[in-house]
Amino acid sequence: SAQSSSTHKVNEKRSIGKEKYANFDWDNLGFSLTPTDYMYIMKSNKDGNFSKGSLTPYGTFEISPAAAVLNYGQGLFEGLKAYRKEDGRIQLFRVEENANRMKMGAERLLMPSPSVEEFVNAVKQTVLANKRWVPPYGKGSLYIRPLLMGSGGVLGIGPAPECTFLIFTSPIGIWYKDGSKPKSLLIEDGLSRAAPGGTGGVKSITNYAPVFEAVNEAKAKGFTDVLFLDAATGKYIEEVSSCNVFIVKGNIISTPGIQGTILPGITRKSVIELALDFGYQVEERSIPVEDVIEADEVFCTGTAVGISPVSSITYKNKRAEFSVGEGTMTEKLRQTITGIQNGVVDDKFGWTCIL
Ligand code: COI
Repeated sequence: SAQSSSTHKVNEKRSIGKEKYANFDWDNLGFSLTPTDYMYIMKSNKDGNFSKGSLTPYGTFEISPAAAVLNYGQGLFEGLKAYRKEDGRIQLFRVEENANRMKMGAERLLMPSPSVEEFVNAVKQTVLANKRWVPPYGKGSLYIRPLLMGSGGVLGIGPAPECTFLIFTSPIGIWYKDGSKPKSLLIEDGLSRAAPGGTGGVKSITNYAPVFEAVNEAKAKGFTDVLFLDAATGKYIEEVSSCNVFIVKGNIISTPGIQGTILPGITRKSVIELALDFGYQVEERSIPVEDVIEADEVFCTGTAVGISPVSSITYKNKRAEFSVGEGTMTEKLRQTITGIQNGVVDDKFGWTCIL
């Protein structure tokens, strides 16, 4: 299956990059792994500088069993998308933001990071090498996953002597085909995602596996996902497993402020900038659960989920419901952001770049 790289014969007898589109069922894309033709790899040397990176056929690679990423979690990831416009051209959305966020995370985890220019060039090269996997307009996008990891071996706890920057891609569908399938979230006391002083504010790989169990249990109870409360007091909302959260009350849009425990999302930042441009009042602040219960609308933002309405939140066995769909502020923001990303709404912010 497309999910399993072990059964995927990478590049064997494939004519790579010749045709405009890969021979693929574009109508049934979800958010699952479909291997593409090439990945990008760049390694740091002893001085902590990166040597020239290169494209290589997508596939498995060797790594030291003592790699710091495997033993101590010295790793970061990024996520962004390449979009096919109606005229067939391909564009990226705010790629420099991902480059900068990786740099911040690399400082936190004591890794050298590619410069913004190296990062952007590497992303562009990788997308162009895999361009037959960028879905046709309206069918989805090419998800781009840059990684930075301590690939060199260590025994004692400490940073790896060598780091690897890698980019792979996978075509993905539109998260919710009708654009508005709402989420039902569960808040549980005693569960938190990131502690003050920890790594919640950078895209460390270690922030994600710890939510698997809670999300699985919520799904088993019929919820879509978990909304985590702050670790220090358990009073304020912070983040969903893979996305930021916003609430709307009247003309005010609020989202938890960036204080080290919230991932500084690029869709989050774009929504704030767009909402201000629309003339709404935007607040970045601590949001007590009570404010959420009384909100008119709630929505989540992320590269993977886009802008995703929330229809209900359940807390202490009580279920609060919110407006979704046509006429909501969420829908207006969603249509504009996705329109800019897909190239059908004029990009007056200069967020996109055509490859
Ligand atoms: C994204 O939205 O791209 C992310 O990085 C979240 C990931 C857990 C799917």
